[in-house]
Amino acid sequence: MLYKKLKGFPEGFLWGASTSAYQVEGAWDEDGKSPSIIDMYEHPKEYADFKTASDHYHRYKEDIELFAEMGLKAYRFSIAWTRILPNGTGEVNPAGIAHYRDVILECRRHAIEPVVTMYHFDLPYCLEEKGGWGNRETIDAFVEYARMLFDNFGSDVTYWLTINEQNTMILHPGAIGLPKGGSLPSKKELYQQNHHLMLAQARVMKLCHEMCPHGKIGPALNLTAMYAQSCHPQDAIAAHNWEVLRCWNFADVPVFGTYHSLAWQYMQDRGIAPDVRPQDCETLAGARPDFIAMNYYSTATIAASRGDASDLSARAGDQQIMLGEQGVYRAAENSFVSKTKYGWVIDPSGFRYTLRKVYERYHLPILVTENGIGAPDVLEDGAVHDDYRIDFMRQHLQAMQLAITDGVRMLGYCPWAALDLVSTHQGYQKRYGFIYVDRDEFDLKKLERIKKDSFFWYKDVIAKNGAYL
Ligand code: BG6
Repeated sequence: MLYKKLKGFPEGFLWGASTSAYQVEGAWDEDGKSPSIIDMYEHPKEYADFKTASDHYHRYKEDIELFAEMGLKAYRFSIAWTRILPNGTGEVNPAGIAHYRDVILECRRHAIEPVVTMYHFDLPYCLEEKGGWGNRETIDAFVEYARMLFDNFGSDVTYWLTINEQNTMILHPGAIGLPKGGSLPSKKELYQQNHHLMLAQARVMKLCHEMCPHGKIGPALNLTAMYAQSCHPQDAIAAHNWEVLRCWNFADVPVFGTYHSLAWQYMQDRGIAPDVRPQDCETLAGARPDFIAMNYYSTATIAASRGDASDLSARAGDQQIMLGEQGVYRAAENSFVSKTKYGWVIDPSGFRYTLRKVYERYHLPILVTENGIGAPDVLEDGAVHDDYRIDFMRQHLQAMQLAITDGVRMLGYCPWAALDLVSTHQGYQKRYGFIYVDRDEFDLKKLERIKKDSFFWYKDVIAKNGAYL
C-alpha cells in the first residue's frame, strides 16, 4: 500500500537494544551462581564459550553508561534463574538479587526502561537433572522463581518477558545446544515440554498481574510470515502449515488460551499431542499477555511437501537447524530477497508483513525484542565501519514505519544487540552489537568497549525519534 503521508514513531516509543544473560555476562560460576543447561552443553571447540563472554556481569555500569550515551530509552536483558535460585527452587541467593537490583537501578538512573526477560534458554542444570521441562514440577519452580522476581523487582520493572523463543526451543532444540553425550528429546517429549512451558507462562502472567499492578507481561517469540514459493494452491497450503506450526501455535495459546486447531490436529494425528490434564485448560484460559514481544530476523519461503525425505534440508550455514518436514512443508529459495554472510534471509518488507499479521491476529501492541545482522565486524584503527548494519536497520525501521502507518500499534524496537556477545553458534566471529567488545575467540585482551559507526547512527535516529530515516 502506498501512502500520501507516513505516520511518525509514537511518543514514548521504546528505542532500545537487547542482550541475554548467558551470552553477555560471563562470571558463569561466580557469586553463588549454579550451572545452567547452557553451561553444561557440548560446546563447539573452535568458538568462545560462555564463561567470560563480554564480562557484562562486572562491567554493566560502564555498559549502561554507554547505552545512555547512545540515547537508549530501553534495555532488554535477561535474568539468570541460576543466580537467583541456584538450586532451581528454595534458597535465594542474595548476591544474585543484589546484582540485578543494581542493574535495574542503574538503568533507571539513566532514564532507561529495563525490559526483563525471565527465561532465555538457561534452565538451572539441577532442574534438568530432574527431567527439566518434561517434569511438571518445573512449572512450580518457574512460578516460584517468578514470584521472587516480582517481589524484589516488581516496583522498578514495568515490562516483563516470560520466555524467549519458546518456538525455537521446541522446533529446533539443537539450535540452543546439544546435551553432552546425550541425544535430543523426541517430538512427543518436546510437545509435552511445550505444554508445560505454556502452563508455566500462563501462571506467571497471572501472577504478574496480581503482584505488580503496573506490570506488563508478554511472551517473546521468533515470529515470521511465510511466503508460498508459487501461486500453486499446494504451496499456499504448505506455507500456511508452517506458519501455523512455527508461529501461531506458540502465540495463540498465551493470547487465546487454547491451541490452534490445525496444530492440535497435526499433533494428534502424529501421536505427539501432549498429555493435557483437566485443570490445564482453565490455567491456559485464565491468563492473557499485555503485549506480544517478537524477535524478527528473516522470512521463509515454502513449497509443497513431496511426501518423502527430500522435504528435509539443513538451513544454509547452520547444520543445527533442519528445515522442512515430511508431509508438511519443504523449504524453498526466494530470488527476491538477499542473504547475510551466514545465509540468513534479509527481508525488511517481510518485517512489515509479519508485523501486520501479528497485529491483525492478536490486536495487542508489539514490542520488537530482537532484530539485527550478524557479521564478522573488523576493528580498524580504533573504529568499526559497520555500514551493512546501518543499512539493515535503516531498512527495517523504514518497514516498521510503514507498518505503523498501516495501523500496527508498536511499543518499541530493541534490536540485537546492545553490545557484542557470544553468538549461539559462531562465538565472536559473528557479531551483532552497536558496541564492539575487543576480544577474540580465545584471547580476552582487555575487553575494551569501542563504539561502532552504527552506535552513532542509532544515537541520531533515537534523538530524532525516527524522523528522516
Ligand atoms: C535469537 C536468540 O534466536 O537469535 C538469541 O534469541 C541469538 O539468543 C540470536 O543470539 C541470533 O542467533 P545467533 O545464532 O546468530 O547467535
